[in-house]
Amino acid sequence: MKFFVDTADIAEIRDLASTGLLDGVTTNPTLIAKSGRKFLEVIEEICGVVDGPVSAEVVALDHETMMKEAAVLRKLASNVAIKVPLTIDGLKTCKALSSEGVKVNVTLCFSANQALLAAKAGAAFISPFVGRLDDNGADGLQLIEDIRLIYDNYNFDTEILAASLRNSSHIFECAKIGADVITAPPAVIKSLFNHVLTDKGLAAFEADWAKTGQSIL
Ligand code: E4P
Repeated sequence: MKFFVDTADIAEIRDLASTGLLDGVTTNPTLIAKSGRKFLEVIEEICGVVDGPVSAEVVALDHETMMKEAAVLRKLASNVAIKVPLTIDGLKTCKALSSEGVKVNVTLCFSANQALLAAKAGAAFISPFVGRLDDNGADGLQLIEDIRLIYDNYNFDTEILAASLRNSSHIFECAKIGADVITAPPAVIKSLFNHVLTDKGLAAFEADWAKTGQSIL
Protein backbone atom coordinates (compact mmCIF):
# COMPACT_ATOMS: atom_id res chain seq x y z
CA MET A 1 0.00 0.00 0.00
CA LYS A 2 1.30 3.45 -0.90
CA PHE A 3 1.32 6.27 1.63
CA PHE A 4 0.55 9.82 0.53
CA VAL A 5 0.35 12.76 2.93
CA ASP A 6 -2.57 15.16 2.64
CA THR A 7 -1.04 18.58 3.29
CA ALA A 8 0.62 21.60 1.69
CA ASP A 9 2.84 22.13 4.74
CA ILE A 10 6.35 21.75 3.35
CA ALA A 11 8.02 21.20 6.75
CA GLU A 12 5.66 18.29 7.47
CA ILE A 13 6.28 16.85 4.00
CA ARG A 14 10.08 17.05 4.43
CA ASP A 15 9.80 15.42 7.84
CA LEU A 16 7.76 12.47 6.52
CA ALA A 17 9.84 12.17 3.34
CA SER A 18 12.95 11.74 5.51
CA THR A 19 11.55 8.40 6.75
CA GLY A 20 11.77 7.02 3.21
CA LEU A 21 8.19 5.78 3.59
CA LEU A 22 6.35 8.58 1.79
CA ASP A 23 5.13 7.76 -1.73
CA GLY A 24 3.35 10.98 -2.69
CA VAL A 25 1.40 14.07 -1.65
CA THR A 26 -2.18 15.23 -2.09
CA THR A 27 -3.29 18.85 -1.81
CA ASN A 28 -6.59 20.62 -2.32
CA PRO A 29 -7.61 24.29 -2.45
CA THR A 30 -8.44 24.27 1.27
CA LEU A 31 -4.97 22.95 2.18
CA ILE A 32 -3.32 25.51 -0.13
CA ALA A 33 -5.31 28.31 1.54
CA LYS A 34 -4.25 26.96 4.95
CA SER A 35 -0.56 27.06 3.92
CA GLY A 36 -0.88 30.80 3.23
CA ARG A 37 1.45 30.35 0.25
CA LYS A 38 1.18 30.85 -3.51
CA PHE A 39 -0.32 27.74 -5.14
CA LEU A 40 2.15 27.32 -8.00
CA GLU A 41 5.18 27.99 -5.82
CA VAL A 42 4.20 25.54 -3.13
CA ILE A 43 3.39 22.74 -5.62
CA GLU A 44 6.74 23.23 -7.36
CA GLU A 45 8.54 23.07 -4.01
CA ILE A 46 6.68 19.93 -2.90
CA CYS A 47 7.53 18.24 -6.22
CA GLY A 48 11.20 18.84 -5.48
CA VAL A 49 10.95 17.09 -2.10
CA VAL A 50 8.94 14.01 -3.12
CA ASP A 51 9.65 11.80 -6.14
CA GLY A 52 6.14 10.32 -6.31
CA PRO A 53 2.94 11.96 -7.56
CA VAL A 54 1.93 15.33 -6.12
CA SER A 55 -1.75 16.09 -6.68
CA ALA A 56 -2.52 19.68 -7.67
CA GLU A 57 -6.21 20.51 -8.13
CA VAL A 58 -7.77 22.59 -10.89
CA VAL A 59 -10.25 25.18 -9.64
CA ALA A 60 -12.26 25.89 -12.82
CA LEU A 61 -15.64 24.24 -13.18
CA ASP A 62 -15.71 23.97 -17.00
CA HIS A 63 -13.71 21.57 -19.15
CA GLU A 64 -11.97 24.17 -21.37
CA THR A 65 -10.65 26.19 -18.43
CA MET A 66 -9.72 23.02 -16.53
CA MET A 67 -7.55 22.02 -19.51
CA LYS A 68 -5.84 25.43 -19.50
CA GLU A 69 -5.21 25.24 -15.75
CA ALA A 70 -3.90 21.69 -16.10
CA ALA A 71 -1.44 22.89 -18.77
CA VAL A 72 -0.01 25.42 -16.29
CA LEU A 73 0.19 22.85 -13.47
CA ARG A 74 1.80 20.20 -15.68
CA LYS A 75 4.67 22.56 -16.49
CA LEU A 76 5.65 22.82 -12.81
CA ALA A 77 7.25 19.36 -12.59
CA SER A 78 7.09 15.92 -14.15
CA ASN A 79 5.57 14.38 -11.00
CA VAL A 80 2.50 16.63 -10.87
CA ALA A 81 -0.77 14.66 -10.95
CA ILE A 82 -3.72 16.75 -12.04
CA LYS A 83 -6.63 16.58 -9.61
CA VAL A 84 -10.10 17.12 -11.04
CA PRO A 85 -13.51 17.01 -9.36
CA LEU A 86 -15.92 14.19 -10.07
CA THR A 87 -18.23 16.15 -12.37
CA ILE A 88 -19.03 15.73 -16.06
CA ASP A 89 -16.50 18.44 -16.94
CA GLY A 90 -13.98 16.93 -14.53
CA LEU A 91 -14.28 13.52 -16.17
CA LYS A 92 -14.07 15.01 -19.68
CA THR A 93 -10.84 16.62 -18.55
CA CYS A 94 -9.70 13.34 -17.02
CA LYS A 95 -10.34 11.49 -20.27
CA ALA A 96 -8.51 14.09 -22.36
CA LEU A 97 -5.49 14.30 -20.04
CA SER A 98 -5.18 10.54 -19.49
CA SER A 99 -5.23 10.01 -23.25
CA GLU A 100 -2.13 12.23 -23.35
CA GLY A 101 -0.47 10.07 -20.67
CA VAL A 102 -1.03 12.52 -17.80
CA LYS A 103 -1.74 11.08 -14.34
CA VAL A 104 -5.15 12.28 -13.14
CA ASN A 105 -6.55 12.04 -9.62
CA VAL A 106 -10.36 12.26 -9.61
CA THR A 107 -11.45 13.74 -6.31
CA LEU A 108 -14.67 14.24 -4.34
CA CYS A 109 -15.89 10.71 -5.02
CA PHE A 110 -18.80 9.64 -2.84
CA SER A 111 -20.31 6.67 -4.72
CA ALA A 112 -19.19 3.46 -6.40
CA ASN A 113 -20.88 4.50 -9.65
CA GLN A 114 -18.84 7.72 -9.67
CA ALA A 115 -15.71 5.61 -9.19
CA LEU A 116 -16.74 3.38 -12.10
CA LEU A 117 -17.05 6.44 -14.37
CA ALA A 118 -13.65 7.74 -13.26
CA ALA A 119 -12.03 4.42 -14.14
CA LYS A 120 -13.69 4.48 -17.56
CA ALA A 121 -12.30 8.01 -18.01
CA GLY A 122 -8.79 6.61 -17.48
CA ALA A 123 -8.10 8.08 -14.03
CA ALA A 124 -4.77 7.07 -12.49
CA PHE A 125 -6.33 7.57 -9.04
CA ILE A 126 -9.86 7.73 -7.64
CA SER A 127 -10.22 9.55 -4.32
CA PRO A 128 -13.23 8.34 -2.30
CA PHE A 129 -13.73 10.52 0.81
CA VAL A 130 -14.19 8.13 3.74
CA GLY A 131 -14.38 10.62 6.62
CA ARG A 132 -16.82 12.97 4.93
CA LEU A 133 -19.19 10.06 4.23
CA ASP A 134 -18.92 8.99 7.89
CA ASP A 135 -19.61 12.60 8.94
CA ASN A 136 -22.84 12.41 6.95
CA GLY A 137 -24.10 9.18 8.48
CA ALA A 138 -22.92 6.88 5.65
CA ASP A 139 -20.27 4.15 5.75
CA GLY A 140 -17.10 5.46 4.09
CA LEU A 141 -15.17 2.20 4.37
CA GLN A 142 -18.02 0.29 2.70
CA LEU A 143 -17.46 2.53 -0.32
CA ILE A 144 -13.78 1.53 -0.48
CA GLU A 145 -14.85 -2.12 -0.34
CA ASP A 146 -17.44 -1.64 -3.12
CA ILE A 147 -14.97 0.13 -5.40
CA ARG A 148 -12.34 -2.59 -4.79
CA LEU A 149 -14.87 -5.22 -5.89
CA ILE A 150 -15.91 -3.32 -9.02
CA TYR A 151 -12.35 -2.45 -10.09
CA ASP A 152 -11.27 -6.08 -9.60
CA ASN A 153 -14.28 -7.35 -11.58
CA TYR A 154 -13.10 -5.42 -14.63
CA ASN A 155 -9.35 -5.26 -14.00
CA PHE A 156 -9.33 -1.47 -14.02
CA ASP A 157 -5.84 0.01 -13.53
CA THR A 158 -7.19 3.02 -11.62
CA GLU A 159 -5.71 3.03 -8.12
CA ILE A 160 -8.03 3.46 -5.14
CA LEU A 161 -6.64 6.40 -3.19
CA ALA A 162 -8.60 6.32 0.06
CA ALA A 163 -8.94 9.95 1.18
CA SER A 164 -10.44 11.97 3.99
CA LEU A 165 -9.03 9.45 6.48
CA ARG A 166 -9.24 10.72 10.04
CA ASN A 167 -7.57 8.08 12.23
CA SER A 168 -5.32 5.02 12.34
CA SER A 169 -8.20 2.54 12.22
CA HIS A 170 -9.36 4.07 8.93
CA ILE A 171 -5.91 3.22 7.56
CA PHE A 172 -5.91 -0.27 9.07
CA GLU A 173 -9.35 -0.99 7.55
CA CYS A 174 -8.27 0.38 4.14
CA ALA A 175 -5.23 -1.92 4.22
CA LYS A 176 -7.47 -4.92 4.98
CA ILE A 177 -9.83 -4.02 2.12
CA GLY A 178 -6.91 -3.56 -0.26
CA ALA A 179 -6.93 0.15 -1.06
CA ASP A 180 -3.93 0.86 -3.29
CA VAL A 181 -3.05 4.16 -1.64
CA ILE A 182 -4.06 6.06 1.47
CA THR A 183 -3.75 9.78 2.01
CA ALA A 184 -4.02 11.27 5.48
CA PRO A 185 -2.92 14.34 7.44
CA PRO A 186 0.65 14.24 8.84
CA ALA A 187 -0.51 13.67 12.43
CA VAL A 188 -2.55 10.60 11.43
CA ILE A 189 0.38 9.09 9.53
CA LYS A 190 2.77 9.81 12.41
CA SER A 191 0.36 8.17 14.86
CA LEU A 192 0.92 4.84 13.06
CA PHE A 193 4.47 4.64 14.42
CA ASN A 194 3.32 4.72 18.04
CA HIS A 195 2.33 2.08 20.54
CA VAL A 196 2.32 2.44 24.31
CA LEU A 197 3.96 -0.99 24.71
CA THR A 198 6.78 0.04 22.36
CA ASP A 199 7.49 3.06 24.61
CA LYS A 200 7.24 0.96 27.76
CA GLY A 201 9.44 -1.82 26.36
CA LEU A 202 12.05 0.64 25.17
CA ALA A 203 12.21 2.34 28.58
CA ALA A 204 12.76 -1.06 30.24
CA PHE A 205 15.49 -2.05 27.74
CA GLU A 206 17.25 1.30 28.25
CA ALA A 207 17.18 0.92 32.03
CA ASP A 208 18.46 -2.67 31.92
CA TRP A 209 21.17 -1.78 29.41
CA ALA A 210 22.39 1.03 31.69
CA LYS A 211 22.81 -1.55 34.48
CA THR A 212 25.33 -3.49 32.33
CA GLY A 213 27.65 -0.49 32.17
CA GLN A 214 28.47 -1.40 28.55
CA SER A 215 28.41 0.62 25.30
CA ILE A 216 28.30 -0.54 21.69
CA LEU A 217 30.37 2.34 20.29
C1 E4P B 1 -7.93 14.21 -0.56
O1 E4P B 1 -7.34 14.31 -1.61
C2 E4P B 1 -8.49 15.34 0.19
O2 E4P B 1 -7.56 16.39 0.09
C3 E4P B 1 -8.68 15.06 1.66
O3 E4P B 1 -8.37 13.73 2.00
C4 E4P B 1 -9.94 15.59 2.23
O4 E4P B 1 -9.96 15.30 3.62
P1 E4P B 1 -10.97 16.01 4.62
O5 E4P B 1 -12.33 15.46 4.38
O6 E4P B 1 -10.46 15.64 5.98
O7 E4P B 1 -10.90 17.48 4.34
